[in-house]
Amino acid sequence: MEKLTPVLALATLISAFGSSFQYGYNVAVINSPAPFMQEFYNETYTDRYDEPMGDNLLTLLWSVSVSMYPLGGFFGSLMVAPLVNKLGRKGTLLFNNIFSIVPAIMMGVSEIAKSYEIIIVARFIVGICAGLSSNVVPMYLGELAPKNLRGAIGIVPQLFITIGILAAQVMGIRNILGNNTGWTIMLGLTGIPAVIELVFLPFFPESPRYMLIQKGDEKNSRKALQRLRGWDDVDAEVEEMHLEDQSERAEGRLSVVSLLSQRSLRWQLISIIIMNMGQQLSGVNAIYYYADSIYGSAGVNEKDVQYVTVGTGAVNVFMTIAAVFIVESSGRRLLLLLGFGICCGACVLLTVALHFQENVSWMPYISIACVIIYVIGHAIGPSPIPNVVTTEMFRQSARPAAFMVGGSVHWISNFAVGLIFPFMEVGLGAYSFIIFSVICLVTLIYIWMVLPETKNKTFLEVSQMFAKRNKTEIKVGDGDLPLKDSKESLDNSERSTAF
Ligand SMILES: *[C@@H]1O[C@H](CO)[C@@H](O)[C@H](O)[C@H]1NC(C)=O
Repeated sequence: MEKLTPVLALATLISAFGSSFQYGYNVAVINSPAPFMQEFYNETYTDRYDEPMGDNLLTLLWSVSVSMYPLGGFFGSLMVAPLVNKLGRKGTLLFNNIFSIVPAIMMGVSEIAKSYEIIIVARFIVGICAGLSSNVVPMYLGELAPKNLRGAIGIVPQLFITIGILAAQVMGIRNILGNNTGWTIMLGLTGIPAVIELVFLPFFPESPRYMLIQKGDEKNSRKALQRLRGWDDVDAEVEEMHLEDQSERAEGRLSVVSLLSQRSLRWQLISIIIMNMGQQLSGVNAIYYYADSIYGSAGVNEKDVQYVTVGTGAVNVFMTIAAVFIVESSGRRLLLLLGFGICCGACVLLTVALHFQENVSWMPYISIACVIIYVIGHAIGPSPIPNVVTTEMFRQSARPAAFMVGGSVHWISNFAVGLIFPFMEVGLGAYSFIIFSVICLVTLIYIWMVLPETKNKTFLEVSQMFAKRNKTEIKVGDGDLPLKDSKESLDNSERSTAF
């Protein structure tokens, strides 16, 4: 049994803190200082043009500032494949820090420079950083970890994303940095994990698998493995990598275009797209980006909003840890159905509660309960499970392409919500949540009708479950189907992105 060596543990912590943590931090960071930042937008505009900014322009600029982040994430996820092959996994993570440190400085000086454009551009760049991190950290860690630790280590990035969100919420407390003078520092803080990663990660090994398979450098690959495992005899593992290399070469890698045209994978692909859309369009980031204004309109006392927000973030961290334990026993399908069901119900109830809050004194408490229940629902299913299922529905050779499709849909949907929600909120008020509940319901129905349970299933079995719908026949021994690796590789690349 291989154990967690200090080298492996530290490499995991440093890369998860330097990259995944930042991803979560930037999701939530502009939530609590929003009023001060908007005031700054307005003041800057007034200084320049001698008239106050109109309401519509402010809403527009603000939603652009919010949604540049997922847009950057989309471009980042497109850059993953070329970068990881050229610079390596660790190399990409180090290089990626440019996309964090530069915008951190930009956001830090935006107020002095009297320019909100700087913030908007910086949000885009830091989004690229997130799009890269969300794919590269799980890939790097998956390749460092010995097989028996891959599952546990694979969850660490997801956990650090939720911790990053929580950290941003804590920093956003009015007495800490969520105030008139602190918000630029708060935005700039994202550069610190990047600097820490840049200083310490070079002391840790590059992925041995990358060095052996992509670079053909067996000597250094061996050295890296010896450091990671804490013993000298790594022949068996090196041999295993050689074998994996050969079988992968024989099987070939599926490009996105050939994945799209594979009939035997069509409904698996549709399922990935629907799940990722459902995950984002269910409004989870609307909840995070706009949590404060939701609590505000829910009638929570302005001073207490910040603590409720921090509490929500803590619940999210806690439920992510819990999901790790539940997912293996309950299966994926049940958690997805349960999660989307809870989110749907919470949105309906939230709408009702917001509608009646003027007249009924205890309604605001119901609203807050709804938000918390929603966060719980999302953390047990819709957040973590789609990536797990993606891993399980596609074999090794199709997986990178499947993740790229899933990742792009994830970031585009995230972008759409960030851009549209502020307008929805203005136009529909409390009724915006009805739209989210409908999306949850539609996703739930799709999962119920189409998605099979993939827990402990081999790739072949999953293909057979989809065969009728795909109108293909699955023959055992068909060259198209790898029969051996499916089970163990289930656990290794999962859970790369959060919500
Ligand atoms: C901008 O500031 C001015 C002056 O303080 C204020 O009257 C106006 O309502 C503000 N505009 C927006 C869109 O908040």
